[in-house]
Amino acid sequence: MRYKKFGKTGLEVSQICLGTWGIGGAGWDTHSDEERMDAIKAALDCGINFIDTAPAYNAGKAEQYIGETLHHLGARKDVVIATKCGNKYVDGKYIRCGSESLIRRQCEESLKNLQTDYIDLYLVHWPDPNVSMAETIGTVAQLKKEGKILHAGVSNFTKEQIEEASKYCEIEAYQPQYSMLDGDNEETIRWAADRGMGVMTYGTLGGGILTGDYREIRTFGETDNRNRFYPYFREPLFSKVMELLKVMDAIAAERNVPLAQIAVNWTLQQEFISSCITGAQSRRKVEENCAGLNWNLMDEEIICLNKAIKCYRQ
Ligand SMILES: NC(=O)c1ccc[n+]([C@@H]2O[C@H](COP(=O)([O-])OP(=O)(O)OC[C@H]3O[C@@H](n4cnc5c(N)ncnc54)[C@H](OP(=O)(O)O)[C@@H]3O)[C@@H](O)[C@H]2O)c1
Repeated sequence: MRYKKFGKTGLEVSQICLGTWGIGGAGWDTHSDEERMDAIKAALDCGINFIDTAPAYNAGKAEQYIGETLHHLGARKDVVIATKCGNKYVDGKYIRCGSESLIRRQCEESLKNLQTDYIDLYLVHWPDPNVSMAETIGTVAQLKKEGKILHAGVSNFTKEQIEEASKYCEIEAYQPQYSMLDGDNEETIRWAADRGMGVMTYGTLGGGILTGDYREIRTFGETDNRNRFYPYFREPLFSKVMELLKVMDAIAAERNVPLAQIAVNWTLQQEFISSCITGAQSRRKVEENCAGLNWNLMDEEIICLNKAIKCYRQ
């Protein structure tokens, strides 16, 4: 594993952060409880010290798996836990909830689920258009003063929203989507990194399509996030992703590596990224992704990939 300073927080985090949306158990492929908890253990075994979660990942279930696993291993203090507020999951739907009372309630529930008395990094998951920034971020600032959270950040905010949020609390971390398939946030990410924020990006594997496991359009269950959140699994993007995979396939064959490692390596060669979040629910996948840090893409491979990415993004 490789580690990097997380902005100005003083934290040193693994360059791969374990994503736990899938581990929560709603909207992704099904795995057993044992497999999910073993994936968390595998992450620690591989040197991952950074776990991303949220109460919205199946109404606290992902947090509970993390809490139980870390408690069992006695490893709470070895891990930087990032969890979130301002977004909840009710009856298969995601609902913004940025008010003071709801954030306070979410924070207490997260502490309980995670079996801890502090949260290392607390992120506002999405801005709530019905609540003022002063109230949402002011509440996070208050939680920091109370010692319930150590660092504050935001996810899915625009640059203007981060500037506004910064009036009420120091924003120390930014979590946007960023991958070979989505470069929309690059300008804001560079700006955030320049200002000393830790940058943790999500969707590193494009929700799984960059692993090469999907070569034909598939039908997912009604509430599956691959129908809704990531647009790559349907046309018009699906065919374009398949063109990009051809370039990844050639590198994978030449280097004898899985495609997932190319996606991880491509993301981490961007110096403005502190850690890339990859979601995985099994030991095999966690280990495979982490082994991506045992080798580096060569300059000519990056040039080749960037050419294909440019084509994809046109
Ligand atoms: N802040 C936000 O709004 C936000 C939004 C999205 C995601 N996130 C965070 O970022 C994390 C990562 O994003 P994501 O989980 O949406 O997408 P992702 O990491 O791009 O892809 C996850 C998918 O890839 C599969 N996978 C992982 N490693 C694999 C491998 N080596 N070979 C084959 N398949 C593999 C997973 O399968 P299995 O599930 O079957 O293991 C899952 O289907 C989330 O878990 C969450 O923590 C945050």
